[in-house]
Amino acid sequence: MADNESNEGRDLIELLLEDHAKAKSLLEEIDGSGDGDDLATLFPRLVKDLVAHEVAEEEIVYPALRSWVEGGDALAEARVAEQQEAEEALAALERMEIGSAEFRRSLLQLKGAVLEHASHEEAEVFPALKAGVSPERLNTLGQAYTIAKALAPTHPHPHAPSSFPGNVLVGPAIAIVDRAYDAVRSVLQKVGG
Ligand SMILES: [Fe+2]
Repeated sequence: MADNESNEGRDLIELLLEDHAKAKSLLEEIDGSGDGDDLATLFPRLVKDLVAHEVAEEEIVYPALRSWVEGGDALAEARVAEQQEAEEALAALERMEIGSAEFRRSLLQLKGAVLEHASHEEAEVFPALKAGVSPERLNTLGQAYTIAKALAPTHPHPHAPSSFPGNVLVGPAIAIVDRAYDAVRSVLQKVGG
């Protein structure tokens, strides 16, 4: 997978920061766009990027945080709750008419929530991961994160955090519904959760 190859050797935190920067610039671009074709092209891209990022964080980042960082459970829970809200907001936006006043209003709220979530992660989660997880593990987790993103759905599926199938680092033998997740697990086995 080309994406995966080009990301080889890049650690999890670099990849996460890059995703945050991409999401921020896409949100700015959407803010400055008219209601026509631009918005119709940019909004689906935002949905796809945000969903992939969120799903991969829930599969890779938060389990790592819970496993290896002191106080990681509380940090992860707060972030998961924010992501849950963002996915619900995205699902609602997908049901609205693109460019309508309601759509613009909701999009603005989503932007605020995404930026706040990103700054919490950058201020609290990433430094904690850097301090608690070895550089080798962060590299392997970077690969797992890239795979998880590539396998993620392209539309929001708001779910209760406890029902998420991917808590692969710390969970007992959870029934994994999709064989594709095996790819993520095999990378994570190298990490040795
Ligand atoms: Fe994030």
